[in-house]
Amino acid sequence: MKGFVPTPESVVDRMVERLFRDRPPSASSTVLDPGCGEGAFIQGILRWRKRNGAELPQILGVESDSRRSRRAEREFAGIPQIQIRKTDFLSGSCDDSFDYIVGNPPYVSILGLSEIEKRLYRARYSTAQGRFDLYLLFFEQALRLLKEDGRLVFITPEKYLYVDTANPLRMLLNRFDVEEIELADESTFGPLVTYPTVTTVSKRRYSGRTKVIRRDGAIKHIALCSGEQSWMPLIVGGAQSKFDALLGEFCLRISAGVATGADEVFVLKNEEIDNPLRPFTIPTIAGRELGNENPRLAARSSMLIPYTLDGRLIPESKLGSLGLYLRQDGAARKLKARTCVRRKPWYAFHETPPLRDILNPKILCKDIVASPRFWIDRSGEIVPRHSVYYIVPKNAAIVDDLCEFLNSETAADWLRSNCQRAANNFIRLQSRVLKRLPIPGEIAERFRRPADQSLQIASHKTYSRRSVLGSSELLDFAR
Ligand SMILES: C[S@@+](CC[C@H](N)C(=O)[O-])C[C@H]1O[C@@H](n2cnc3c(N)ncnc32)[C@H](O)[C@@H]1O
Repeated sequence: MKGFVPTPESVVDRMVERLFRDRPPSASSTVLDPGCGEGAFIQGILRWRKRNGAELPQILGVESDSRRSRRAEREFAGIPQIQIRKTDFLSGSCDDSFDYIVGNPPYVSILGLSEIEKRLYRARYSTAQGRFDLYLLFFEQALRLLKEDGRLVFITPEKYLYVDTANPLRMLLNRFDVEEIELADESTFGPLVTYPTVTTVSKRRYSGRTKVIRRDGAIKHIALCSGEQSWMPLIVGGAQSKFDALLGEFCLRISAGVATGADEVFVLKNEEIDNPLRPFTIPTIAGRELGNENPRLAARSSMLIPYTLDGRLIPESKLGSLGLYLRQDGAARKLKARTCVRRKPWYAFHETPPLRDILNPKILCKDIVASPRFWIDRSGEIVPRHSVYYIVPKNAAIVDDLCEFLNSETAADWLRSNCQRAANNFIRLQSRVLKRLPIPGEIAERFRRPADQSLQIASHKTYSRRSVLGSSELLDFAR
C-alpha cells in the first residue's frame, strides 16, 4: 500500500502530451510506467493514441501492490501491447530499457521503510542518502533504465529541487537534458499537499536551457547549475550570478533562541519579579510576541539566567536569591523532573545560552511563519526564546540594511522556496537554511565595506551597559 496517490486525468494527459511532444512513439517503441497503480498513465497513453490516431507502443506497468496490479491486469487484459508486472521496481528485477518513462512515483519517506529496505536501497542507490524518500530512488532507477535519447516525465514533490537530501539526484540529473520543470498547481492532489512538480528529462547531454513554468504561470528559461546547489533560487529568482554571498558570511550567529526546558520557572512577567531577583534577569521575547502589535519589541517578560556571560553555570552556592527562588518546592520539582538534567545540575538550562553572542544588536524572526518577517533588536538586550530565531551580524552597523533586505520580496521568495513546509502552508525558518540565503552582489558589497569601529560589535560592552546586570552577583562571578 506504499505511497498510493492517484494522478488526476487532466494532469496525466498533460504529462503524456509532454512525453511524446515532437517525438511520437512507433509500434515498436517501449514505454514504462513504474508504480503504475491501477494504470492511470496507461489510460492516458490510450487516450493520447486515440486523439492522435497513432500506433500503440509496447507498454509495461510495474506495481508492487498485489491488489492494484491485479486491477490493472484486468483493466488492460486483451490489449497485447500492455503488460503489467507485479514486482518491486527498486529491487533490480526490472532490467529492460525503455524509450519513454512516465509516472507518479510513490512519496514514501524513510520513516515508512523497514530496516531491510533501507539497507537494500542504501547499497543500491546513490540517491538513498540521509533521510531519503522513495521518489528520489524511482528517479535514479528510471534514469538507469531509460534508453539513450529516451524521455522521462515524472510528477513528484518539488522538494527535490532544493533539499540537501536530493543533492545526489540533482547531481545525477545534471548529466542529462532537463528540458522542463513545471511547478504544478498546489491543488493537483487535493488536500495531499505535496507542492507537485512535473519534470521532463531526456537522456542526452544537457542543452544548457531548461524551460520553467512557475505556479503563477510565468515562463522562463534558465541554465541549471552543475553542482549540488539548490535549483530554487534560479527558478524563483534571477540568475545565480546576481548573488555572490550567503547570509552566513556576514553573521556571528544564526540560531534558534534559548531553550530553558522550563520556561514556567525561568521566565517571569516583569511585574512579578521581586527586587532581589532582578540582577539575574534579562528581557526575553517569545515568537508569539513578534507581530505588528509589538513593533518596538517591548519585552513583557524576563528570563532568570543562572549563567555567566561566557556560558558557565553559576555554582549553586553562589546563586544567592536566585538559588532561593529555584529551590522553592514547586520550582525545584519541575526543574528536577526534566530529562535534560540527568547529566547536568538540576537548575541548568536545557541548552547553555551563548549570551556573549546573543546580547548584541540582532535580528529576530519567528520559527514557523506564513510569510517571513524580521525585527531588529537594536540595543541587543533581548534574549530570544526557542520559538524565535536570531541573527547576529558580525558588524552591528549593517543590522538595519540587513533587516531591510531580509524583509524584501527577493529574500521572502527564496525563503518560501527553500524552507521546509509546515502545516497550513507555513514555512519553517531553520538556521541551516537561513545561513544559505543568497545576498545580491550590490548588497553584499555594502556589507563588506570596512566597518565603522565605533559600530563594531563588542558583546561585553553591550552586556555590561545593562544597568540591572551591571552590579549583579552574576557579573561579579563572571569576573
Ligand atoms: C503515487 S502512486 C501513483 C499511482 C499511479 N501511477 C497514478 O498515478 O495514479 C505510486 C504507486 O507506486 C506503487 N509503489 C510503491 N512502491 C513501489 C515499488 N517499490 N515498486 C513498484 N511500485 C511501487 C504504489 O503501490 C502506488 O500504487
